[in-house]
Amino acid sequence: MLPTMEIVVSPLPGARAGDDVLRFWNRYAAQAHTFEHAVGPNELRIRVLHPGGDSQRHDWWLAHRAGEVVGLARMERMYVDEHHRDVEIDLLLDPEAGTGVAGALLKRALVPALAGGRTRVMTWNPDVPFQRSLWSALGARRAQTIDHARLDVTRADPELMERWDRVPEGYRIHSWRGRCPDGLIALFCAGRRLINDAPLDDLEYPDLSYSADFVRSVEAMTIASGGEPWVLLAATSEGDVAGMTEVIVNTFSPEHSEQSDTAVALAHRRRGLGRALKGRMWRELRRNAPAVTGLTTMNALSNDPMRAINNEMGFVSGPRYAIWQAPAERLLVAIS
Ligand SMILES: CC(C)(COP(=O)(O)OP(=O)(O)OC[C@H]1O[C@@H](n2cnc3c(N)ncnc32)[C@H](O)[C@@H]1OP(=O)(O)O)[C@@H](O)C(=O)NCCC(=O)NCCS
Repeated sequence: MLPTMEIVVSPLPGARAGDDVLRFWNRYAAQAHTFEHAVGPNELRIRVLHPGGDSQRHDWWLAHRAGEVVGLARMERMYVDEHHRDVEIDLLLDPEAGTGVAGALLKRALVPALAGGRTRVMTWNPDVPFQRSLWSALGARRAQTIDHARLDVTRADPELMERWDRVPEGYRIHSWRGRCPDGLIALFCAGRRLINDAPLDDLEYPDLSYSADFVRSVEAMTIASGGEPWVLLAATSEGDVAGMTEVIVNTFSPEHSEQSDTAVALAHRRRGLGRALKGRMWRELRRNAPAVTGLTTMNALSNDPMRAINNEMGFVSGPRYAIWQAPAERLLVAIS
């Protein structure tokens, strides 16, 4: 009887998220195939459903069936400018939700995406049979497999971290929390650009140029949504960028903080800089933020160097994600 009931999709401004959305989110988070964690009403409203900023806009839709929340869709327009053609649309669904719910949510997100000139969709989903058959039936292409891993921060080996935290000769490390000091913003933009080197496998995605406006805007959005960036930026003695790492401390639930980008410039790799950045960050967190007991991270399964370092540190792989890509028009035709 359920599948024939009407599905009603409506926009979800974060401020109006009620108990039914909270219940749905926490039920979704509890599933074994995601690392999402149970949240309270403030974390849901401020962190999860944050509308974004100039650089990255987030829109949410909610699907109801018979008065029950049965799914959420999130559309992320990254790099808000008229030249960028990519849009990310993610569906948060109960496996029992059925393809009708997925189709209804997808349609609501696709129409404004296309109207805004976004012609290529990418979507991150738990790598489970239901999602795999959904996206392949819609004609999307599986572009990358993502390893989602978690570190119990309290269990990394302090002696190993101390050994790692020896910056190779010829480099210095800048460190800050929150907003990047104005005097370092140009170097930080250069550091951010290094992540363009991360493996893409079959994912088609342009290099991002990381202008100061863009970097500042992402930073402001992170802080406004309850994240505290902790950044280490490595430079050569001539002042050129050599590497960076960033952790986003979750100020609502520090035990669910995030290891974000880590990258070392090609010319400076395999000298211990990657490990030095990770070791120093771990030690700074233990000293100054003991409530940060868990870090999750997402890496391409194919990223042997990063995963080797993470595994040595004690990160444990959990549920996998898959990124799918498709032309927006193709998806719209497939669900119409
Ligand atoms: C991952 C990365 C930051 C490592 O930086 P690094 O300064 O070279 O790191 P280190 O010198 O401390 O350690 C390198 C280790 O990576 C591992 N590694 C490097 N290349 C590898 C390969 N092809 N296969 C398997 N492991 C490899 C090894 O364990 C190596 O240690 P070793 O040199 O003692 O053998 C760097 O490769 C990088 O910037 N990659 C591109 C950006 C990226 O993918 N970032 C991660 C996504 S967030």
